[in-house]
Amino acid sequence: MTSPTTDTVVRIAGVDKTFTRDGVEGTTALSGIDLDIARGEFVSLIGPSGCGKSTLLRVIGDLIAPTQGTVEVNGKTAEQARGDRDYGMVFQAPVLFDWRTVEDNVKLPLELMGYDSARRTARAKEMLDLVELGDFLRHHPYQLSGGIAARGDRSRARLRAIHPAHGRAVRGAG
Ligand SMILES: Nc1ncnc2c1ncn2[C@@H]1O[C@H](COP(=O)(O)OP(=O)(O)OP(=O)(O)O)[C@@H](O)[C@H]1O
Ligand SMILES: [Mg+2]
Repeated sequence: MTSPTTDTVVRIAGVDKTFTRDGVEGTTALSGIDLDIARGEFVSLIGPSGCGKSTLLRVIGDLIAPTQGTVEVNGKTAEQARGDRDYGMVFQAPVLFDWRTVEDNVKLPLELMGYDSARRTARAKEMLDLVELGDFLRHHPYQLSGGIAARGDRSRARLRAIHPAHGRAVRGAG
């Protein structure tokens, strides 16, 4: 934990998350979470299964809203940071579309960002070479081992985290 500075990338204050079902309060996954993460810091969330690690990452990534408390990423709301593509997220289980090849899965964020075909191909190859998946470009997810699928997923997450202003991957939650 660090003292708050302008170099604080993630700032979480008083975060609670209670899941409700049919309007009835169910599981309290997070309670009173305060956490500051500085730029360049490497942070691991460690705890027993079900203690709320993934829930906290989802709150930071603006995939779910906290019941209470605030989350800032790069000095913005988590929603703004997600919209600005300030970070990439790798899920606990690989998230690859079955009907797309590895290459086309990695290209998806670039399609959504409006990159032209040549740039999509070049960036996807660069990212896949980084994780040594160049030989699996034309494979579909069902043809991959679990570890290889996870590497494909990671290279796609890194692409999402390429900040247009810096052209570099921003490490963050997930
Ligand atoms: N969408 C949801 N609706 C209801 N309860 C949920 C939901 N997501 C998570 N929970 C509950 O919140 C608690 C925390 O779950 P979470 O997935 O954050 O745990 P975790 O620490 O990541 O566990 P693991 O180490 O097994 O991945 C668990 O009791 C879980 O059942
Ligand atoms: Mg988890």
